[in-house]
Amino acid sequence: MLKIEGLRKSYTDDSNPVLADFSLEVRRGEFVTLIGPSGCGKTTALRIITGLLKPDAGAVSVDDRPSPGPSRDKAMVFQHFNLFPWRSAIKNAAYGLEMQGVPEKTRLATAAEYLRLVGLGKHLDYFPWQLSGGMRQRVGLARALAIRPKVLLMDEPFGSLDALTREQLQGMLQKICVEQNLTVLFVTHSTDEAIYLSDRVVVMGVRPGRIIAEFAVNVPRPRIGYDWRADPEHARIRSQIWNLLEQQLERTEVVA
Ligand SMILES: Nc1ncnc2c1ncn2[C@@H]1O[C@H](COP(=O)(O)OP(=O)(O)OP(=O)(O)O)[C@@H](O)[C@H]1O
Ligand SMILES: [Mg+2]
Repeated sequence: MLKIEGLRKSYTDDSNPVLADFSLEVRRGEFVTLIGPSGCGKTTALRIITGLLKPDAGAVSVDDRPSPGPSRDKAMVFQHFNLFPWRSAIKNAAYGLEMQGVPEKTRLATAAEYLRLVGLGKHLDYFPWQLSGGMRQRVGLARALAIRPKVLLMDEPFGSLDALTREQLQGMLQKICVEQNLTVLFVTHSTDEAIYLSDRVVVMGVRPGRIIAEFAVNVPRPRIGYDWRADPEHARIRSQIWNLLEQQLERTEVVA
């Protein structure tokens, strides 16, 4: 579904790129998580994939069609909500559809449908300042889902939430992803979150940002209704990923 080939990107010095030879494929309905130390280029990679940033080399395609710029095939959920403060929840959730020229009645009906799906059916007319952080992130997710993208990109969407809300939203996201067979590329700093949510965890290294390993999590989703985190298999994958990340973190410290 999503194919990323040979991305390279430098912001300043091309002899020292942020991303080099970054290639990845995400199959239809698959949930893949990118994990790596701060500054390794995760956001840069996602911004290139969504089409907000141009790579120096490499290509992105969706469903075998080149997809270099922003398109309705791809939707992004950001860490910091990115809601318009002057718009109600429903009008924020309808924003992507508005950009696509969808008539008002249809787009508001669709936005309401997705707000209900994320558990905000009673808050359609609330403004962002009247919503908690978790609720704002639900609006961000509804806005992304409302355009029915082929690929959902999420950049640490739960990073600024408290631990309980985070767990609640992880459960909600899993359920929606399975029900709607979504194709997701998700970024996180949390090994637990990555293993909990993903079919595959992709570990990035630093200098340059590149993929250094992949771990398959062969457990059916959604993993709700039982404590998958307490499973020995979860602990086994976690320690393997952590060993790799520890080496990469040491390398970032040497530079700092
Ligand atoms: N607009 C920019 N101009 C110059 N350098 C940038 C720019 N954006 C990012 N960088 C640099 O590129 C590197 C990768 O940044 P990026 O934001 O992609 O990392 P990240 O893996 O998402 O980090 P974090 O986990 O902290 O969000 C960093 O060294 C950063 O300083
Ligand atoms: Mg980032």
